[in-house]
Amino acid sequence: MNPFILVSLLATVIAGKSPRLKFVVHEPPRFHFGKPENYISMFHQEGSNTLYVGGQAMLYVLTFSDRGVRDLQIPVPSDQTAIDTCRSKGAPLELECDNFITVIQKVNDAFLVCGTNAGSPRCWMLVNDSVVTDVQGSGQIAPPSEISPPYPSQKSISLFADGNLYSALSSVGSHSGSIRRTFGSQKLLKTENVWLLNPQFAGAAIIPSLQKVKEEIYFFFSEINKTARVDEEPYRARIGRICTVDEGGIKSLLEHSWTTFMKARVMCGAGNSQQQYNNMKQAVVLTAQDKRGVMYGLFSNAWGRTVICAYSIEDIDQAFSTSKLKGYSSQIIGARPGTCVRRNSSGGIQNDIKNLGVIRYHPEIEDVIRPVGVAPLDLPTDDQITHTVADIVLAINEEHYSVLYLGTEQGKVLKVLHTSEGVFIISQYSLFHNEGPVLNMAIDSQKGHLYVGTEMEVQRLPLADCGRYGDTCRECILSRDPYCGWDKARRKCIAIPAGYNASTGALVQNLDQSNSSVCGEAAALKQRRTSPKEVLVPSNTTIFLPCPVRSFHAMYRWERDNCVKKYPCIFSGDFCVLGPVVDTPLKEGVFRCMATEDGFKVEVVSFRLVNDGRLLAASLASTLGPSLLLAAAALWLH
Ligand SMILES: *[C@@H]1O[C@H](CO)[C@@H](O)[C@H](O)[C@H]1NC(C)=O
Ligand SMILES: *[C@@H]1O[C@H](CO)[C@@H](O)[C@H](O)[C@H]1NC(C)=O
Ligand SMILES: *[C@@H]1O[C@H](CO)[C@@H](O)[C@H](O)[C@H]1NC(C)=O
Ligand SMILES: *[C@@H]1O[C@H](CO)[C@@H](O)[C@H](O)[C@H]1NC(C)=O
Ligand SMILES: *[C@@H]1O[C@H](CO)[C@@H](O)[C@H](O)[C@H]1NC(C)=O
Ligand SMILES: *[C@@H]1O[C@H](CO)[C@@H](O)[C@H](O)[C@H]1NC(C)=O
Repeated sequence: MNPFILVSLLATVIAGKSPRLKFVVHEPPRFHFGKPENYISMFHQEGSNTLYVGGQAMLYVLTFSDRGVRDLQIPVPSDQTAIDTCRSKGAPLELECDNFITVIQKVNDAFLVCGTNAGSPRCWMLVNDSVVTDVQGSGQIAPPSEISPPYPSQKSISLFADGNLYSALSSVGSHSGSIRRTFGSQKLLKTENVWLLNPQFAGAAIIPSLQKVKEEIYFFFSEINKTARVDEEPYRARIGRICTVDEGGIKSLLEHSWTTFMKARVMCGAGNSQQQYNNMKQAVVLTAQDKRGVMYGLFSNAWGRTVICAYSIEDIDQAFSTSKLKGYSSQIIGARPGTCVRRNSSGGIQNDIKNLGVIRYHPEIEDVIRPVGVAPLDLPTDDQITHTVADIVLAINEEHYSVLYLGTEQGKVLKVLHTSEGVFIISQYSLFHNEGPVLNMAIDSQKGHLYVGTEMEVQRLPLADCGRYGDTCRECILSRDPYCGWDKARRKCIAIPAGYNASTGALVQNLDQSNSSVCGEAAALKQRRTSPKEVLVPSNTTIFLPCPVRSFHAMYRWERDNCVKKYPCIFSGDFCVLGPVVDTPLKEGVFRCMATEDGFKVEVVSFRLVNDGRLLAASLASTLGPSLLLAAAALWLH
């Protein structure tokens, strides 16, 4: 037997937590960069078809349609003097002596674009979606070095809320890292250096509240203890929060600093076990109203293995509003330090100073934030996660479901349903011509689009991709995709229309378990018979029979003639292959491949083998024989 085939057959073994379906997407819309972009920033406004992508000395304005992408490339070069200085003083990497666009934000009616400018950050305004100009002096704005990092490898976060821009810069070299308000009508504020220990930022999110004054912003980051011993974990994952009403302290205390900053330790790992993931790489928040919602954090451990932990926003909020403060044991008089209120001195100046002092010296809370379900989500381990975005979907039962999109090291995107029961991996998309890691993603829940970027290309996917699930009710329901429902009248798997009235009962769905009984008994039991394809088998050769795999959660078995005996097959790529094993006379007879999922058996494909009595020539048989037969059979199926 051809040793190559044998190896590839044995190499793929299916795990239970694999994606149920695997799709390869070839069709547009996609945009190819003219040169590799090692760092990409993105900005997308919900409801539009335009994606702004920041690259190396270039701003790409990409307008997507179903047919393709219209691109406008706006050069944003560095100053030559900045490049010369950067080279002479030795940047972390000489390659970084260029203008990498790190910030693209819609600020009121204009676009603010900032870049590293070869180590001395600069900002521009994007005008008419076509040219960049210098920032005009309107309103207060912090120096560019507080908005953009000097080098692209230093991660930064920017967030625009209620007319104000918030910027978080990670620490690198002599930069200590900070969280600032950098633009807007409110006072420009910053963190005290002692509050953050070499922070590496992972994300930020507004936490809305029914009372505007109680609105907060959470910042997610990891801290690094550079003096930790080699046997100690240097990383600590953190959530820091501030109130948007914050206007800073008084002349003698926290005058230009936050007066509502608090931080907490975040754990990701099973219970108190040693196996903890302490380096938070990225975080996203899904909010419903008033502090309900969920935060997803992407973490890695010392070996670079990545996991996702989910946290309840309510739990985090509870911890910040009730926990003891680290190192502070005295009684708190009056309002709790860090509470979101418009500060005034009605409680007396002495009390005010005391409260500000508590925040200044004790911003950390004692409570530790632990994930819901106590452990990381149970995701596949064969590929590392590089980026994640999430969406909240209103299902037919009028409940909200969380869907995660996970970009991976190998350029794939996993679509994952997360419920209180755990995760269900709906599908995996293979998108790219060049398999590089997913660097960035943007989601548009309103329009139903996902934008995915790698070093070479940017693509758009529909969130509701219901047409791929097949044309039976069972296949539609078993997809467990909250965006899709089975239209009973039209007999199609369709995207749930906006404003769909559930009481009409026109669509069916079942998300809480893989159970298609909503399709009715008849639909489930009507077994499809396939007409066998005929294969002539030379009498002394080996043959492999391929069964195309649709659902990787189904069990595949081959049956011969009238199912006297069942034969297991081996997964190889997208096929479950039956080969000549002991007892399997692959010479003649009808072989049917059966897939069993959710208690129902479906016939996928069948072959009638006919012994043609001839002998296959030695030279041909030993080199091509088995693989030829396998390939030929696979061809017929398409
Ligand atoms: C932007 O567009 C407006 C209206 O078309 C035009 O008047 C203005 O000059 C443009 N600005 C720049 C900088 O091109
Ligand atoms: C960093 O680690 C060292 C060694 O364990 C320890 O002494 C020090 O307190 C740590 N620093 C912080 C800020 O936790
Ligand atoms: C000061 O705050 C207190 C309670 O927080 C409030 O009752 C009072 O009206 C405020 N005074 C001013 C002048 O805003
Ligand atoms: C939904 O449909 C039901 C009956 O079909 C109707 O009574 C109800 O008013 C509809 N609700 C909305 C919000 O349209
Ligand atoms: C599917 O759901 C139906 C109705 O809820 C239930 O009776 C049946 O036992 C379920 N089947 C499986 C396999 O769980
Ligand atoms: C099949 O038989 C022919 C003639 O006897 C022989 O040359 C060839 O090696 C055999 N092929 C295989 C695959 O055994």
